[in-house]
Amino acid sequence: MSAPRLVDLEEDDLDWMAASELTLFGRSAWSGTLIRDDWRYGGSRYRAVRLVGELVAYAVYGFEGEAFHLMNLAVLPEHRRHGLARLLMDDFLEQANELGAADAWLEVAVDNEAALALYRAYGFEDVRVRRKYYQPEGTDALVMRLALRPEGESAAD
Ligand SMILES: CC(C)(COP(=O)(O)OP(=O)(O)OC[C@H]1O[C@@H](n2cnc3c(N)ncnc32)[C@H](O)[C@@H]1OP(=O)(O)O)[C@@H](O)C(=O)NCCC(=O)NCCS
Repeated sequence: MSAPRLVDLEEDDLDWMAASELTLFGRSAWSGTLIRDDWRYGGSRYRAVRLVGELVAYAVYGFEGEAFHLMNLAVLPEHRRHGLARLLMDDFLEQANELGAADAWLEVAVDNEAALALYRAYGFEDVRVRRKYYQPEGTDALVMRLALRPEGESAAD
């Protein structure tokens, strides 16, 4: 069994990501245009997991203003519960630490039990609810934060 490998998503992979988004998130999916524009100009990190040559999971993260943010994370259904989200979360947090972020942020649908369990396992804590954040369904999002450094300590300390 070959080991999963973390890779950067290349421009040629963006159609795969857009198709995956549509299958996984339906009407809330990131569109191909949004993905392509953000990949080119947004300054976000587009990461993925390759398993036996196939892309099977992806994540997008980067700074939104001052805050280091997990903007997207998904594992294809047939590859879930094998630790692939953990690989991407470890990569996300490693990157946050390397860049000196004080904390890491994300939003998750309040009814997404798998993702909530994953983020809580990493120590993310509830900050607030954003009403009707996910459109067009109007599902609420929970904003979660993980402190990466003790309060008041700067990256240079
Ligand atoms: C949430 C998601 C990314 C998890 O991916 P995964 O590769 O299956 O997760 P992992 O195997 O790395 O699991 C890590 C931990 O997360 C938690 N977890 C993951 N799936 C879970 C589930 N269905 N139920 C309960 N806990 C779950 C567990 O704590 C798990 O650790 P364990 O396997 O040792 O118990 C995946 O279910 C997914 O892609 N869902 C659809 C897209 C999505 O909701 N993305 C998040 C948007 S905010």
